[in-house]
Amino acid sequence: MNIAVIGSGYVGLVAAACFCELGHQVTCVDNDPKKLKLLQDGHVPIHEEYLPELIGRHHRDRLYFSRNLADAVKASAAVFIAVGTPTKTSGEADLSFVESVARDISKAINGYKVVVTKSTVPVNTSQWIRQVLLLNGASPAEFDVVSNPEFLREGKAVTDFLYPDRIVIGSNCDRPLAVMNEIYAPLFNGSYYKAGGSIPPPAHFRNRPQVIYSSAASAELIKHAANAFLAMKISFINAVANVCEAVGADIEDVGKGIGSDSRIGPRFLHAGIGYGGSCFPKDVAAFHTVARTYGYEFGLLNEVERINLDQRDRFIHKVRSALWTLKGKKLGVLGIAYKCGTDDIRDSAAVAIMHQLLAEGAEIQAFDPAAVGRAREVFGSRIVFAQSAYEVAEGSDALLVLTDWEAFAHLDLNLIREKLKYPIVIDGRNLYNQQGMANAGLIYYSVGRTPVGLEQLTEAALGRVC
Ligand code: UDX
Repeated sequence: MNIAVIGSGYVGLVAAACFCELGHQVTCVDNDPKKLKLLQDGHVPIHEEYLPELIGRHHRDRLYFSRNLADAVKASAAVFIAVGTPTKTSGEADLSFVESVARDISKAINGYKVVVTKSTVPVNTSQWIRQVLLLNGASPAEFDVVSNPEFLREGKAVTDFLYPDRIVIGSNCDRPLAVMNEIYAPLFNGSYYKAGGSIPPPAHFRNRPQVIYSSAASAELIKHAANAFLAMKISFINAVANVCEAVGADIEDVGKGIGSDSRIGPRFLHAGIGYGGSCFPKDVAAFHTVARTYGYEFGLLNEVERINLDQRDRFIHKVRSALWTLKGKKLGVLGIAYKCGTDDIRDSAAVAIMHQLLAEGAEIQAFDPAAVGRAREVFGSRIVFAQSAYEVAEGSDALLVLTDWEAFAHLDLNLIREKLKYPIVIDGRNLYNQQGMANAGLIYYSVGRTPVGLEQLTEAALGRVC
């Protein structure tokens, strides 16, 4: 099938490449000439597992990049809207890009099209898109609007797209379902999973995705509610971690105990410095605003957001309690991205914490396996960018772990201790075993666990710390 994907951000680009992988011909449209040129030249502008492989496999064969929305729409049976929906100061999602694309689609319609929203949008956006298309001259016979939300995680986006838990198709009539079913047929019937050369499945994938047909409004709500629920799970475990710190319990044991209840499940129960990224903060705020707009005050979401931001302050408090004052202290920071596996630093808790530490007069040298390029745009010369974790530790008063990169969990701890000025590690992601840190002679602060290592210091070493 010929498909147009409007927008080449994380969702659009991954969807476009994955639709090609399912056998479709895709034109991915973007109006940013710089980005377009990169894509047309075969470069991949984001750090995403398997995406370079897929784009390399399909570029100029099934996958084309273009600025021409009208031509892409004319050539396609389905048009996916995957443009950005940034947050306005009110917390509401800014839908002006979606509206403008809908207007452009209406001008190009030349026969029946299924117009699909992939961007995360508030409830009833499909209705608004329908209205915009009609007001701009499209006839009801020429289109249907479907909500087909995407649940992909950055860093695992390709795998999440091709091996989803569920595919949600929200439509207020049956007419577009044949097109939608045809697009996803290789996933629905499992043929993609049997084909040679498929992207490898994730460990938890069982069989085939569940397909959920619903109204457009329900599909839109599923997306917002799913993200808000996951954010709530993270804030919940972070709040429990704070109780653990107060009573001397261990959040890792408590999390395991909670998550082993199959009704709760172990995922998204990792305590830390709080969630960040381009989705959870934005979607929790947008969902809250949507509920309020329709007359329901969803107070629980206030608490989810408050606990999340509080985790950053609590971490800075830990740095202060380990080092006393921050002015003039040299801090080594491991991790700038909002989570592992991505170069994305949008709404990264690590970035917010670094800004605060700089404001308090600390000096920072930082390393991230993927996000240094983007971090340079934000921090410029205000921090020093190191080439490795060990370089970050060199001469630092303390080492701060802010992103959960797997590689950080496997560092040579003895070497880290030797390189640090003071043997202090403050871990915002609970990457290390406490006993291992103490054995390596490190003073180790983490989240929801009692600090270790202090008691093992010799009098002389204690003298240096103080
Ligand atoms: C999220 C949703 O998971 C995805 O379904 C949706 O489509 C987009 O938003 P993403 O933002 O890519 O995906 O990242 P995710 O892996 O969900 O992590 C979000 C944030 O929560 C990160 O900052 C991560 O570090 C944090 N997190 C996650 C925790 O602090 N603890 C956890 O247990 C899980």
